[in-house]
Amino acid sequence: MAKLIQAAVLGIALTAAIVSAADSAAVETAAPAPADSVQADAAKTFTMEELAGFNGQNGKAAYIAVDGVVYDVTRAKGWKNGKHKGFSAGADVTEEINKKSPHGAKVLKKNPVVGNVAAQPAAD
Ligand code: HEM
Repeated sequence: MAKLIQAAVLGIALTAAIVSAADSAAVETAAPAPADSVQADAAKTFTMEELAGFNGQNGKAAYIAVDGVVYDVTRAKGWKNGKHKGFSAGADVTEEINKKSPHGAKVLKKNPVVGNVAAQPAAD
């Protein structure tokens, strides 16, 4: 009889442990935000003048804008001092990355998004 009670208690304890493990696993998977949401959460809206200040020169951060999104390339290997293959940070490089680079905009994925650019007045 004592063995039976012991077994029952063990069973209950095991079930409780499994349930709590499943609970914490659920919390863990719910926590990290999807990579894409960084873009949606990007708070700052830069004017072109503000963006120009982030040119990677003299210790400044290096930001580039592509398709209205501002990326921080300060730590990107190929963007030392805000320069890459003759192109400079602190600017909107949508045209350049799409038309003049061999890789296109896909290389931006690994760089942090820091904001958006204000809508541009239509060109004449
Ligand atoms: C002759 C033209 C160019 C060449 C040969 C070139 C080459 C490269 C190479 C080899 C990489 C690293 C490989 C990779 O991460 O996929 C790279 C990364 C990158 N390139 Fe270019 N590129 C050129 C033009 C441009 C232009 C015009 C832009 C935009 C203005 C640009 C923006 C970038 C960015 C944002 C990265 C990612 C940096 C990083 O996260 O490390 N590239 N490029």
